[in-house]
Amino acid sequence: MAQANGNSEGIRTGVHQSLAHDSAHKHVSGEAIYIDDMPEPPGMLNVAFGMSDHPHARIRSMDLGRVRKAAGVAIVLTAADIPGRNDVAPVTEGDPVFVDKLVEFKGQCLFAVAAETMEQARRAARLARVEYTVLKPILTIDEAMAKQSFVGPSQVMKRGNARKAIGAARHRVAGHFEIGGQDHFYLEGQISLAVPGEDGDLTIYCSTQHPTEVQQAVSHVLGCDSNAITVEVRRMGGGFGGKETQGAQFAAAAALVARVTGRPAKARLDRDDDMIMTGKRHDFVVDYVVGVDDDGRIKGIEIELAARCGNSLELSAAICDRAMFHSDNCYYFPNVTITSHRCKTNTVSNTAFRGFGGAQGMLASEEILDEIARHVGTDPLQVRKVNFYGKSPRDVTPYHMTVEDNIIAKIVADVEKSSSYWRRRRTIDAFNATSPVLKKGIALNPVKFGISFTTSFLNQAGALIHVYTDGSVHLNHGGTEMGQGLFTKVAQVVAEEFQIDIDKIKITATSTGKVPNTSATAASSGADMNGAAARIAAQTIKSRLTAFAAGHFKVERNKVIFRDNRVHVGRRRMSFADLIQLAYLGRVSLSATGFYRTPKIHYDAAKARGRPFYYFAYGAAVSEVLIDTLTGEYKLLRADLLHDCGKSLNPAIDLGQVEGAFVQGMGWLTMEELHWNPDGGLATHAPSTYKIPVASDVPADFRVRLLESGRNKENVVHRSKAVGEPPLMLGISVFHAIKDAIAAVGEGQLSPGLNAPATPEEVLRAVDDLRHRLSLSAAEAAE
Ligand code: MTE
Ligand code: HPA
Ligand code: MOS
Repeated sequence: MAQANGNSEGIRTGVHQSLAHDSAHKHVSGEAIYIDDMPEPPGMLNVAFGMSDHPHARIRSMDLGRVRKAAGVAIVLTAADIPGRNDVAPVTEGDPVFVDKLVEFKGQCLFAVAAETMEQARRAARLARVEYTVLKPILTIDEAMAKQSFVGPSQVMKRGNARKAIGAARHRVAGHFEIGGQDHFYLEGQISLAVPGEDGDLTIYCSTQHPTEVQQAVSHVLGCDSNAITVEVRRMGGGFGGKETQGAQFAAAAALVARVTGRPAKARLDRDDDMIMTGKRHDFVVDYVVGVDDDGRIKGIEIELAARCGNSLELSAAICDRAMFHSDNCYYFPNVTITSHRCKTNTVSNTAFRGFGGAQGMLASEEILDEIARHVGTDPLQVRKVNFYGKSPRDVTPYHMTVEDNIIAKIVADVEKSSSYWRRRRTIDAFNATSPVLKKGIALNPVKFGISFTTSFLNQAGALIHVYTDGSVHLNHGGTEMGQGLFTKVAQVVAEEFQIDIDKIKITATSTGKVPNTSATAASSGADMNGAAARIAAQTIKSRLTAFAAGHFKVERNKVIFRDNRVHVGRRRMSFADLIQLAYLGRVSLSATGFYRTPKIHYDAAKARGRPFYYFAYGAAVSEVLIDTLTGEYKLLRADLLHDCGKSLNPAIDLGQVEGAFVQGMGWLTMEELHWNPDGGLATHAPSTYKIPVASDVPADFRVRLLESGRNKENVVHRSKAVGEPPLMLGISVFHAIKDAIAAVGEGQLSPGLNAPATPEEVLRAVDDLRHRLSLSAAEAAE
């Protein structure tokens, strides 16, 4: 719990201190209240959903008679029962609450059934008789590309003449590479509880990263004003991007049931339904051609990214944009063309996932750098280094933003040394020379991740602070808590500003009734933006208190100083609470809002030019793995991570974010495999078939550090940096370490073609493929 900062005086606990997550003890004891733990209001109905049986079909008829007559059923609702708009799409349109006529993925929601118990609702949902005219689905990226099936126009980002530069280069390297998707696997599934009030008003308790969007979606669906809907979220049991938009549909269904019946209604998806009905990380296919010189320096590069967006646009435009923004990662591309295709398929619409397309773009560039190295026969780390962003003119991104805060070389040199990369490289080579079956591999990968929503207007945040007459503080802001520690960090910022102990600050649930018109807690910007907004609110109250105290005690304003739970007014000292009491009697307002907008950012999408990011976050990781070339199994032996959180607001929480993100990134690229059946159904919809990393996958030797000298060049709250997403991409080093180990099978002569995720099956396939190619070239040599 709250830990003293070491000073005998001083406050407990301001910024830059390691403080436990405010709910850590409640998470482990089970006392933290998630929506399904809330006492159920009397008369509450439980909502379950009917799902389509085909990925692409027209509904001829839907007979719901048996559903309506099933035990305990109160009501069944379809598209025809929606009084407002049957769409919860976050940007444009295309995400219906209930299918009207055209089914676009298998598992799409056809209707909702509300019953007295969840069991009754689920049983009833299966009794529908639906007749379809089955249509031919498009399921894969390849099919979508062949049919030019897109959710939006393809985009191009370019500088210079890549084609020409590639033609003139000494070497040409071309390749094709597949990147799998990922399920969010938050521990708490999608859930909403809608409680009716007077005049049709509704309060919705929803597990969402975006309460405002849920409020708007529900009001559109119900055809009422936003002011009739209040959305509240105290915490999520994980979001990871999966609750940036995906909760709206189920919130709308619960709201509709509540509105029509006048009874409270809860919609909670079980794990299988959640995995089938909600979007995931986009899988990608990458094609590239790059021209390099003898030491692997890039002269020109063309990258083509094709993403599987699923059946609707949803957030895919911004996600695919972010993929383009990160397909340079840390490398300067003098001549570059990046093309992005947004493929429409008859699968669930893919959505935000930690990294938001940036992860896939970055993996593409890391893969290309790895391939260049294997082609020119140099260590991948060396080839990475010669291509790093550097001084002008080698400091401009493909979208014409200058990288002003470049610390790539520094961070890489640090971890290269601390991990003994080169010594271990030699040890591994020696091991591999004498070990025919087991092979080791090592990889160092850097990360540069752009911070800000690339949709510039989203970069705004608000906060609300009340100080009560006893000096205790009520803190609220538009950010949501999903386990990342945002609430703790913002409370630290406010404690620091008022110079009072953090236990005087009450952390409260996010509510659209307190702070309106918020953006999703996403793009890793939660603490940057809500921390700044809360700080501004606290400063407003503080300046009122300062003016009051100066007048009351007849001193200059600069003689009023807040420090260590006290206020110094000239020679007087009083407790914060005593000053508050006086200020109240003096009729000073003790409540304030704060509003923050990120400065400096702008972007012209039509020209693919601007400064979409306020700044970059950096990191680097070294992973070492051992693979078994007979089974394809592997183990991560050691990982050294170094990550830049600027001047960390809370090093303990940030360290946890780095560790968790790395393991989640490793899971994405090594073991989490989504599999669709030929009929378009998701085969992997439960932990029995979908494998996520567990405690035993964390390497026994795990060395994680925050960059001690870190300091944000930009004026972000207390010079910190965003941490939520960037370290996920440190997991790329595990993938490339596996690839390095496979390459050892051929003594580095040939490059293994390894797609992500590198499951044991994929590793074995890559090993066999490499052996096959080796024997062919040996046979050729013998001829
Ligand atoms: N950490 C935990 N424990 N749970 C989560 O759901 N989501 C990640 C990251 N870290 C997540 C997490 C994602 S996708 C983002 S965008 C950020 O947290 C959002 O929070 P922040 O902006 O406050 O960092
Ligand atoms: N990141 C996360 N969520 C978003 C973004 C982004 O850049 N843009 C719109 N929603
Ligand atoms: Mo995070 S993918 O921006 O919610």
